[in-house]
Amino acid sequence: MEIHQIFENMRDFMPLLLLAVAVDPRSQRRGYGKALVRHAFAHYAGHGKMRIGTGDTPMTVSFYESCGFVYSHRIKDYMLEHYDHPIFEDGVQLRDKVYFAKEL
Ligand SMILES: CC(C)(COP(=O)(O)OP(=O)(O)OC[C@H]1O[C@@H](n2cnc3c(N)ncnc32)[C@H](O)[C@@H]1OP(=O)(O)O)[C@@H](O)C(=O)NCCC(=O)NCCS
Repeated sequence: MEIHQIFENMRDFMPLLLLAVAVDPRSQRRGYGKALVRHAFAHYAGHGKMRIGTGDTPMTVSFYESCGFVYSHRIKDYMLEHYDHPIFEDGVQLRDKVYFAKEL
């Protein structure tokens, strides 16, 4: 087996993880975020599941669900235990990390 084949095979087992999506606040709610995610879906079409782990706020949940991601699971108190300061988004203190997945 050649090296490039090993990497090809490894790719079958590596989860595709979308780390974060951000749009300039002046340009939000115009479809750019969804367009970025759709671009990633098209680029990785046929590569299995894409996952995203994010803070649990109405904005992020609504955004990722609108992109077609489906709730997978949560890690309780992840944000409290892995950051040395409280994080607030949209006035909500982040506690759990929630994961979503989408079959590509
Ligand atoms: C989340 C984010 C990337 C969305 O980008 P965007 O370009 O504004 O999103 P879109 O215009 O493509 O919105 C698509 C859909 O997502 C949902 N959505 C987006 N922003 C939302 C908000 N603030 N509140 C509720 N739902 C929201 C809506 O269903 C929206 O469709 P609609 O506008 O027709 O109602 C952007 O708000 C952002 O950069 N936030 C700060 C960074 C962040 O929190 N990233 C996510 C965590 S990794």
